[in-house]
Amino acid sequence: MTEKALNITLRKAETLKLKPDESNLGFGRHFTDHMFVMQWSSERGWHDAEIKPYGSFSLEPSAMVFHYAQEIFEGLKAYHGLDGSILLFRPLDNLNRLNRSAVRMCMPEIPAEEVLKALKQMIALDRDWVPKAPGASLYIRPAMIATEAAVGLHPSNEYLFFIICCPVGAYYAEGFKPTKIYVEDRYVRAVAGGVGEAKTGCNYAASLKAFAEAKEKGCSQVLWLDAAERKYVEEVGTSNIFFVLNGELVTPPLGGTILPGITRATVLRLAADWGIKASERRISMDEIMTATANGSLSEAFGSGTAAVISPVGEFIYQDKVIQIGGGQTGPIAQQFFDGIQQMQRGLRPDTYGWLVRAA
Ligand code: COI
Repeated sequence: MTEKALNITLRKAETLKLKPDESNLGFGRHFTDHMFVMQWSSERGWHDAEIKPYGSFSLEPSAMVFHYAQEIFEGLKAYHGLDGSILLFRPLDNLNRLNRSAVRMCMPEIPAEEVLKALKQMIALDRDWVPKAPGASLYIRPAMIATEAAVGLHPSNEYLFFIICCPVGAYYAEGFKPTKIYVEDRYVRAVAGGVGEAKTGCNYAASLKAFAEAKEKGCSQVLWLDAAERKYVEEVGTSNIFFVLNGELVTPPLGGTILPGITRATVLRLAADWGIKASERRISMDEIMTATANGSLSEAFGSGTAAVISPVGEFIYQDKVIQIGGGQTGPIAQQFFDGIQQMQRGLRPDTYGWLVRAA
């Protein structure tokens, strides 16, 4: 279907903000000079598309997002290429996933190709914000919220879509180092038929209690188990999960309760091309425990946009410590971390058409 062109108004910031120190960016604390916004109403569809200075919104207290959490978001990144270009990694995959989340949450789909054009225009404008430091990148956050001023429950008749950007360093304070993950067997993240596969803020809000308790136990994330039996591994709080079992890469299948990660898809595709056997199948905690005991589980790592690849050094499960790969980063996690990062920065030929030049 051909998308109707977005008529984008450009209003440049009159004063530019000071850029943060690239060696101490943290994650999601600094925001660039501009943002993209557009409005939707049931009468007019998408309208009033604008690139304008980053700033606050004015919303009615009755805006539906505040009451019924009709919200979706995405996360993608831009990098400096070798030739000075700014490269986006698989941006349409993210925008298309946003549209799948929109359908599930009864929200309007965006014209993905047109939004990508707007994103490129905004990144060209803010190109000096894309950090050059190793391991740093520009994190891009598209989001959509329900803005109709109404308290009765129904799908909102008005929405705001926006994209903001932040220069970021490593997602975890520990950087690319083995993480300690709490296996959650009390709270659950998603049930079959629910909204687990949609990237909606309410999935993340519902995860905070378990996350806070895991933090108290010294863990940086939670590994979720299936809601029905609390037996099978699902995903980590901010990423999908992979195990290396008998030398084979194994990850839980997408069954509606798991986020269909773009980095997950990247790992599976690269594994096929790099000759690493991989399968998508259910993995129980019993299997993990047995495989740890008999030495057949050599690695575990998370995959996600924010963290890229994050090795797991230890799981804490029912007060037992399960050490993985001697608590060290394994060779397969390292191979994916290096390979994906090189690809994202244009240091390897892009034979997949994953890179999109923004500026
Ligand atoms: C991402 O990896 O981009 C995410 O959306 C996870 C978020 C909680 C930082």
